[in-house]
Amino acid sequence: MLRCVEISKEFGGLQALKKVDLTVHENEIAGLVGPNGSGKSTLLNVISGVYKPDTGKILFMNEDISKLPPYKICAKGIAKTSQTVQSFPAMTTVENVLVGALFAKTEGNKQRDPVDRAMELLKMVGLKEDKFNIPAKTLNVVELRRVQLARALATEPKLLLLDELLTGLTPKESDEAIALVKQINKQGVTVLMVEHVMKVIMGLCSRVTVLHHGEKICEGTPGEVCTDKDVIRVYLGKKFSLDEE
Ligand SMILES: Nc1ncnc2c1ncn2[C@@H]1O[C@H](COP(=O)(O)OP(=O)(O)O)[C@@H](O)[C@H]1O
Ligand SMILES: [Mg+2]
Repeated sequence: MLRCVEISKEFGGLQALKKVDLTVHENEIAGLVGPNGSGKSTLLNVISGVYKPDTGKILFMNEDISKLPPYKICAKGIAKTSQTVQSFPAMTTVENVLVGALFAKTEGNKQRDPVDRAMELLKMVGLKEDKFNIPAKTLNVVELRRVQLARALATEPKLLLLDELLTGLTPKESDEAIALVKQINKQGVTVLMVEHVMKVIMGLCSRVTVLHHGEKICEGTPGEVCTDKDVIRVYLGKKFSLDEE
């Protein structure tokens, strides 16, 4: 479904991505991990068109999207939630989700009232109903993460990019979020997720790519990645090697 070919991206002398290859197959949940600053968010931003790659190509459903602006990439069926939560603070929660519907790849189901659909999505991501019609600026960061996810889903994505969706959640909320990602995937949405907690990656992902200093150092099943010597050395550390648990 998605193929990144030799993607490089530099920020003022800092090589954030060096010839990174990444493949995501239709219907899978793929993981992207690596130490802080290894280029994970940059790669998601390049895929979604926030940044243009300096070199390399991104093929989505066999079409080169590397030069398209973000709204066109979204209309093709790629949506992203950011690591740093973004919202329209003065607009209500429901209005924030409706913005996603404006960028939907299709005209959507015209029989459906977009407001009903937005509320259904907000319920699905676990936001309490008394928060639906208040300005987004009154929500806390965990609630805003939920709204951000509902807005991404409102665009009716084929591929959903999740950048540290579980950050800041309690263990119980985190379990609910894992179930939610599974549910979204079952509904036919392919997922590429950045996540630090290896247990989450192990439980959700069929394949994982590991970045280190902007380079891909490993790719494989979660089991393969967790036993890879380089990955243990630069990222997981001894305490995460599988003998531990
Ligand atoms: N807009 C930007 N301008 C300058 N440097 C950036 C920008 N975005 C990311 N970087 C740098 O690129 C590197 C990779 O960052 P990032 O992709 O956010 O890493 P990760 O998500 O893996 O923690 C870091 O050194 C970061 O400081
Ligand atoms: Mg990041």
